[in-house]
Amino acid sequence: MNKKTAITWKTLAISIALLVGFFLPSAVWAAAPDVVKKDTLELGKKIYFKRCVWCHGVKGGGDGPSANRLFTRPRNFLQGTFKIRTTDSGELPFEADLIKTVKNGLPGSAMPAWGEVLKDEEITAVVNFVKTLVEDRSFDDVEDEVLNPMEFGTVPWSTDAGGVTGLNLYLNVPQEAIDQGKEVFIKNKCFECHGGEGRGDGNPTMKDDWGFPILAADWQQCWNFRGSRRDAYDPFNVVRTISTGLNGTPMPNFREQITVEDRWKLAAFVNSLCPRKRMDPLANKPVSDFLISSMFTEGDIARSIDDPMWDAPDDDPKLISRGEGYPGTLNKKHYIALGGQITRGNRNFDPKADNLWVSSRWSPSEGAVYYLVEYHLRFLSTDPEYPDAIAIQWPGKLQDLYGAEKPYFIFGDSKKPVDLWKASFLAKDYQQTSPPNEAGYKLDVKVNEFIGNGFDAIKEKETPANVEVVDSIFKQGRVKILFRRSLETENKETDVQIFQETFIPVSFFQWSGADKEKDEHNALSTWVYTILEPPVPDSIYYMPPIMAVIFIGLEGWLVWMTNRTRKMYKEGKAK
Ligand code: HEC
Ligand code: HEC
Repeated sequence: MNKKTAITWKTLAISIALLVGFFLPSAVWAAAPDVVKKDTLELGKKIYFKRCVWCHGVKGGGDGPSANRLFTRPRNFLQGTFKIRTTDSGELPFEADLIKTVKNGLPGSAMPAWGEVLKDEEITAVVNFVKTLVEDRSFDDVEDEVLNPMEFGTVPWSTDAGGVTGLNLYLNVPQEAIDQGKEVFIKNKCFECHGGEGRGDGNPTMKDDWGFPILAADWQQCWNFRGSRRDAYDPFNVVRTISTGLNGTPMPNFREQITVEDRWKLAAFVNSLCPRKRMDPLANKPVSDFLISSMFTEGDIARSIDDPMWDAPDDDPKLISRGEGYPGTLNKKHYIALGGQITRGNRNFDPKADNLWVSSRWSPSEGAVYYLVEYHLRFLSTDPEYPDAIAIQWPGKLQDLYGAEKPYFIFGDSKKPVDLWKASFLAKDYQQTSPPNEAGYKLDVKVNEFIGNGFDAIKEKETPANVEVVDSIFKQGRVKILFRRSLETENKETDVQIFQETFIPVSFFQWSGADKEKDEHNALSTWVYTILEPPVPDSIYYMPPIMAVIFIGLEGWLVWMTNRTRKMYKEGKAK
């Protein structure tokens, strides 16, 4: 049997299994508790077989047709092990916990937020059906035996965001609580799993209760917390997690070790590490930036990542006042969303990095542009066959593109080539299990430049190299790579020429070597734009006040005129 027919047979078998499952009477699944009405279960079953079975499987064993390519794998319901609860460690969840989970999804995993798709009564129904799939324990006990609802206390500081509405940023967390929370963090050794700076890089060898690999949460990407409930910055989510633990995972509960009051302080600390970004309410992730502005820089640009020139806040400065001690440059880190390449070839359904941060500077006197690309990765590769890598993609012939035209976003196409700058690297003296190294690890970086004319037509340039990586580091779960290139090159045929004040399409690729990612098995962004900003004209500093005065004056005049006209109408002086 060739590979193609094998796949067809498999698909057929799965479809039959799903159909048979659908027509089995509910009684076969488990005896329904009396309290739950039969028609609710019928409805729940219908929804389950339409929406959930693909991941969770016919009997709820977490083995649906999509399961194998997902990380984290869909939950196996048979044991009755649930992560996000308000009940004590090891206990079953309340129905309300499950309803919230199904409604809000489990961010950072493939589990969708069903509140977008299903009505409330449908969610309740499917949750009740899921309960009947649990074999090893009985939800009947939940009704009889009183579960231990946890003591969570209440948020001890004001959550008034100071007039900022709709963002729920919890800005007012007192620094004192954050500092004390850090001590609780150190005392309870959260870093052994979550890493020194909370990027989840403490332990590469953890397994969950089903024997699958599991990673500690990255606290600096709180929007990926499974239990974030569509409000990533709510410290309650962290208090709940440390109070209840996450059943089925190595994440323990700390209800004995840490007082309720200290749990809130610890939550304040964990929370303070997560940069404040504007959230996309649909994706429930930070809004991706679509323009990477490259800052005009007088004289030479610093070739060291540690130079203050490259300092930029992770937070969106428009949203936050926390970055106040920040050394007044206008440099900005742009947040670029990444997704697994699932269009062609060796697809990537579980990319380990789902975003990058990019900042840029250019200097006319140096005739060069620099891009600093940063991203979180818990563990690097040690296998030269599979180095870690990052690439910046440009249109190869910008001059031939009209308007908003762009090459195909994965390695270009036959008519519109791309120019690919790729940095592949391994860390020096690095072991995944070596203790966190305060100084970080130096990287052995190799830079290649490619011309891409499509998926299967990528070749290395034969023309002289122009792109350099001038500095790089891997430290506490974060990679930083600083690219440099001259604005113009000799080879105008396939090297992008970078001109001032022009919107130039650019996109990014990332390969995680530790996960055997290579070639088209990657994470990638859509096309965004970059622009070399003009030097800041002096007029910018005095123009806004002048404009403001003119504007306020104009508005005052309009109001005065309107009132006067009204008065004249009233008095019959105008008709
Ligand atoms: C695209 C795949 C996918 C689909 C479809 C899906 N789930 Fe999930 N679900 C997951 C994954 C993955 C997890 C495990 C995430 C984790 O462990 O962090 C999960 C976990 C769960 C959990 C466990 C929550 C906990 O606290 O541990 C419940 C309950 C659940 N899903 C219910 C549903 C229901 C109900 C549906 C259908 C309406 C559904 N899922 C559809 C992927 C899916
Ligand atoms: C033995 C390892 C280990 C220790 C120690 C540990 N954690 Fe975790 N933690 C984990 C793992 C693993 C996960 C991710 C579980 C998952 O993906 O479902 C996690 C997840 C979390 C999450 C995210 C929860 C969510 O909603 O997804 C938070 C917050 C957290 N831990 C806080 C802490 C704090 C605070 C401490 C110290 C008091 C701590 N952890 C100690 C292993 C650990």
